[in-house]
Amino acid sequence: MAFNLAMYPISYVAQYNPATGKWDEAWHQADSVRFEELERMSVAEQNAVYAKRNLFGLPLVNYTTQYALGCFEGMKAYPQKNGALTLFRPDRNAARFHTSMKGLYAPPFPEELYLSASIEFLKRNRELGYVPAYNPDWEKDTFAGASAVYVRPFMYSEGAIGVGISHSPYVIICATTVSSYFKGQNTKAIITDRIRATPKGTGWIKCASNYVASALAKKEAEEAGYMEVIFLDATDRKYVEEGSSCNIFFHLKSGELVTPALGDTILPGITRSSVIELARAEGVRVVERRISIQEVAKKCVECFVTGTAAGITPIESVTWKGKEYVFNDRVPGELGKRLQSRLKGIQYGTLPDAFKWNVSV
Ligand code: COI
Repeated sequence: MAFNLAMYPISYVAQYNPATGKWDEAWHQADSVRFEELERMSVAEQNAVYAKRNLFGLPLVNYTTQYALGCFEGMKAYPQKNGALTLFRPDRNAARFHTSMKGLYAPPFPEELYLSASIEFLKRNRELGYVPAYNPDWEKDTFAGASAVYVRPFMYSEGAIGVGISHSPYVIICATTVSSYFKGQNTKAIITDRIRATPKGTGWIKCASNYVASALAKKEAEEAGYMEVIFLDATDRKYVEEGSSCNIFFHLKSGELVTPALGDTILPGITRSSVIELARAEGVRVVERRISIQEVAKKCVECFVTGTAAGITPIESVTWKGKEYVFNDRVPGELGKRLQSRLKGIQYGTLPDAFKWNVSV
């Protein structure tokens, strides 16, 4: 099961009250349609169920639905080998969500509230039996087909029609069970002509509008037979920035592991920073800098993309201006495989949590 729309029945909502300066919190339990039933339905049938729910009576016309003025987070909770459930680095998501809301000039959601609500949210859904149990079979393919809980907190504006800034936003948390994100027969990527982010724009914020260009470019790439699309910078049109919804790493012949440096056009991924820490811990020279597509074409021996949804996903080749540059004979490289098995081992609790990344639910 990849990403799916069958949301857990309990969701959380808070709304900022500008008069009191407080966030008013509430919980909502969905109607009688069981998660298992939802999962079996088509997307159209699921949508019909959601339309009837109208959770919390949220306003339909607002800055988020009209102008994509909204931001969100993606976090995963992992069933542990010892039966526990842990969230992976939720403090980082809390901090990024705070930054995103500030970046949108919305009242930022307090990090402590983000953490307490996310944990309580998982506890409540777990009590109803909605969190997958650990399955030892997952170890056979190093968790490639394992399940996790994908937690999606997001900002949603109050009712509004003109273009403006949200003063009294909602923060909603929902979740679903996921396994691998990418689907398809190959792991090829293609460079797109489209632009995801511009200097002084919103590329550094995890905001909804950034994903419009990504979705369009990804559809074009998929139609042309590629799994993923890669964006170049908007100014020089030669520096690699990121994938459709993930950061990117290049392992060069020199042994260096390069990923684009953070700036106003790169999303500060939490898997990205975890991979940097894991690679440095094993002595790899990791460099955050600009890397041109020409340099990739000449020097790259292995490439992978990273993200909460994507995990660490190898890229077999990058096509640029009609020429395909193949990495490591199309086979996932050793460094990426090693980092992936360390990361998954920590996340699912089969390896020691040396960096103290897991937070118990
Ligand atoms: C994630 O990796 O969690 C993301 O938020 C990207 C998403 C749009 C698939």
